[in-house]
Amino acid sequence: MTSRLTAPPAARGRLGEPVPADLLDAAERLSREEVRDLQLRRLRRTLRHAYDNVELYRRKFDAAGVGPEDCRTLEDLTQFPFTTKADLREAYPFGMFAVPMHEVRRLHASSGTTGQPTVVGYTETDLSNWADLVARSIRAAGGRPGHLVHVAYGYGLFTGGLGAHYGAERAGCTVIPASGGMTARQVQIIQDFRPEIIMVTPSYLLTLLDEFERQGVDPRSTSLKTGIFGAEPWTEEMRREIEERVDLHAVDIYGLSEVMGPGVAQECVETKDGPHVWEDHFLPEVVDPFTGESLADGTGGELVLTSLTKEALPVIRYRTRDMTRLLPGTARPGMRRIERITGRCDDMIILRGVNVYPSQIEEVVLRTPAVTPHFRIRLTRRGRMDHLTVQVEAHPDAGLEQRRTAARAIVKGVKDGVGVTVEATVVDPQTLERSLGKLQRVTDERLAPPA
Ligand code: DLL
Repeated sequence: MTSRLTAPPAARGRLGEPVPADLLDAAERLSREEVRDLQLRRLRRTLRHAYDNVELYRRKFDAAGVGPEDCRTLEDLTQFPFTTKADLREAYPFGMFAVPMHEVRRLHASSGTTGQPTVVGYTETDLSNWADLVARSIRAAGGRPGHLVHVAYGYGLFTGGLGAHYGAERAGCTVIPASGGMTARQVQIIQDFRPEIIMVTPSYLLTLLDEFERQGVDPRSTSLKTGIFGAEPWTEEMRREIEERVDLHAVDIYGLSEVMGPGVAQECVETKDGPHVWEDHFLPEVVDPFTGESLADGTGGELVLTSLTKEALPVIRYRTRDMTRLLPGTARPGMRRIERITGRCDDMIILRGVNVYPSQIEEVVLRTPAVTPHFRIRLTRRGRMDHLTVQVEAHPDAGLEQRRTAARAIVKGVKDGVGVTVEATVVDPQTLERSLGKLQRVTDERLAPPA
């Protein structure tokens, strides 16, 4: 409690309000034109840096017949080749670093569920820029100097924990480095230390909420005022569910390790209308995921990001595999927003010819009475037919008839909304595995060849 007494006055203001002008970074006040000018200068420098110092970029640019000097406008970037996760894998571990190893201060790595992990590196300047951008994100979410920030993203090679940590410190907040796991203890800490802000994956927040209830504590009675959620897809329905159950502002933070980590884009709490890309450091494009063709703002496709300031690992036109569209800036008029990421192209399930995203199933589950938000998707094959089963946990108070009605409502909701027939089973409370970080929602058991 002492931290509350010694906190500067700003911390005692209401949360959910726009950042006061004196706490905005200079870049957040730039006009669209000024942002574009800055981007072009930084883009040209980045292309030169990548070409001169990374063999893979030199090879790819040469093969495409383009050089850094060919970029005279921002639109010229479309002539440059894409970078993919496969490029990073090929260069494993450090082959794409553009600075000598002694200038690299930190390494992170992505989990690498399929094959080799990808390794990313940061110079001192990269780490400082990252902390600045996460600090900016925390302020946009409503954080102010003096707030306590509970970081429940995992610490370690994953960028979530340490990325959030240094950003919160840079924002002048007090960090509780909880990391993931030891759920019962986290609940205790939240009650005792009384943080205003929590940074966590939405799925792990649900695990924490169950634990609050298990301990007989109403999550609405906690000190939490803002949740900064990311690292996995979530939906507007999940936002409503969380805001209602915890009585906080739930905002979206986006990022990926290859491009930096959390804080590439952040939703502003006063508008809650999708994350603003911090365009002074990243240049977003959206392309057709199949053909790679550039798409106009407003059109849905795969997000492609180019770093504009990174030293250790510049990324040129990185194919994120994340599906979204670019929208004009609102709370930060100089910078565009991305629509909430609906899923990754790789997560898209093609079920008997229909494209299904797990987030579409989430929307249906969350508006169905008598079930909890804990659900899994199982893909199986019977004969030549693929089947999708939604397994969802019943609400503890739900009776047999309510469970049956819920299962039918889910089947109907998916049929009406997505246009495909699925099965739904409502399972007993507390039987599905809980998330401790990033949730693996889909189990694909279709590997066996058709009989
Ligand atoms: O998940 C970085 C991060 C940490 C972001 C904490 C936000 C908060 P990776 O492990 O490399 O990095 O995974 C990146 O996670 O390409 C998206 O598919 C997904 N992702 C990240 N943020 C969001 C979000 C971190 N807000 C991958 N909404 C990305 C939906 C997200 N998906």
